[in-house]
Amino acid sequence: MPPRTRGPRGRSVAKPKKESALSVLDQRTGRSYTLPVQQGSIHAPDLRQIRRSETDFGLLSYDPSFQNTAACKSSITYIDGGAGILRYRGYPIDELAGHRSYLEVAYLLVYGHLPNKNELGDWLHNITYHTMLHENVKKFMDGFHHDAHPMGMLVGTLAGLSTFYPEAKQIHDEPVRQRQIHRLIAKMPTIAAFAFRHSIGMAYIYPSNDLGYAENLLTMMHRPSWTTGYTPDPVLSKVLDILFVLHADHEQNCSTLAMRTVGSSHADPYTCAAAAAAALYGPLHGGANEQVVAMLREVGSRDRIPRLIRQVKAGKRLLMGFGHRIYKNRDPRAEIIKKVAPEVFQVTGRNPLIDIALELEKVAESDDYFIKRHLYPNVDFYSGIIYQSMGFPVDMFPVLFAIPRMSGWLAQWQEMLLDPDQKISRPRQLYTGSGLRHVPRSGTPD
Ligand code: ACO
Repeated sequence: MPPRTRGPRGRSVAKPKKESALSVLDQRTGRSYTLPVQQGSIHAPDLRQIRRSETDFGLLSYDPSFQNTAACKSSITYIDGGAGILRYRGYPIDELAGHRSYLEVAYLLVYGHLPNKNELGDWLHNITYHTMLHENVKKFMDGFHHDAHPMGMLVGTLAGLSTFYPEAKQIHDEPVRQRQIHRLIAKMPTIAAFAFRHSIGMAYIYPSNDLGYAENLLTMMHRPSWTTGYTPDPVLSKVLDILFVLHADHEQNCSTLAMRTVGSSHADPYTCAAAAAAALYGPLHGGANEQVVAMLREVGSRDRIPRLIRQVKAGKRLLMGFGHRIYKNRDPRAEIIKKVAPEVFQVTGRNPLIDIALELEKVAESDDYFIKRHLYPNVDFYSGIIYQSMGFPVDMFPVLFAIPRMSGWLAQWQEMLLDPDQKISRPRQLYTGSGLRHVPRSGTPD
């Protein structure tokens, strides 16, 4: 008979193999436990059996900001931060960026495989024919103040869309769910472009069914209202599409966590997407590339780089666009953006900020401070320079991030809904407040 141990409910169970288990000795009670290890993790609820007494709730793990907690099993995106690897559904990011369009990649994220010819035809049709916004959505957007931040408009409009599609509440109805996925991916460029046109006081340009996804966005943003004869440069459309591929998903980041958490209460996908976009609005998540551009502008010329480096090393400021919670090696997305940048500059003219950025990277590469801390350029270091060269104002940068991330959010949301392990998200806390006290019947406390 194989060796036995105490299981999660105190029952005697077969002892897991040594290499797949963790032995724990509770020094408070002298009891020992064997916790199974799967995929390099223990099942946190297994800790609950570790108790001081029968009435004890059981051991919790304290993990503020979820730095060491896997909250789900996911088969969508794989990142090895130490090796600088990013793959969607198993495909390396550089191969996808080099050979597939954003909408093919969006399909891959949502359905798990690259579309065949028929699947792609249907998918493109569905996305194309859902790009229009209800006229009342347009009126709703008109209500924003003239200088409203386009990201605030995006968050508000996404939430507002849930009232236009009440059927979206039927999240367990497969065809209904798919229809909302089409709508959300399709309408993102339209909402983004309307928000931009509103902020500059120009008439909205409606989407065109004969344009590609990135091309449509560029047209709706930049076409003068008095002409129909505007075609965005194909190189810029192509590079924007590549940037969309690079930003489509990044496993369990802050905004995806928001999407999954709100989704776990079975809210409709528009409301969930509004929450995810709200998380992306924060400068620590979707706003870093804006700060990179500000920092490079402030540096202004290559001879002022040593001064910036001294300030960073003295702990006075951060080198924006450097470092990443997960990547402790090169961020593969930054490498791809750096490679396509010259194509953009051939169209737009060279952005002088790129020379400062390249020099800054070179200096950091050979400086012990950055080497020791594994600080390399992240995706935001070069993306802002490209967006700026393409004529996007800085407050559109997080919106440009949100457009493609919608496919990742939806893929993660759907995976969460279909995962039998998932329940409504509800972490525990370590209470640090006062013990029981009673309200005085009269008088005020001293
Ligand atoms: N410039 C200078 N020093 C840095 C930087 C930076 N950009 N990033 C980290 N460090 C230093 C820290 O001061 C710390 O030094 P110490 O060990 O002497 O205290 C060390 O490197 C480790 O840093 P952490 O803060 O532990 O790294 P963490 O993984 O928590 O932070 C983060 C990652 C938030 C991205 C950080 O590197 C940062 O703030 N970077 C600048 C902002 C940025 O570019 N954000 C975009 C991220 S990508 C995205 O969201 C799409």
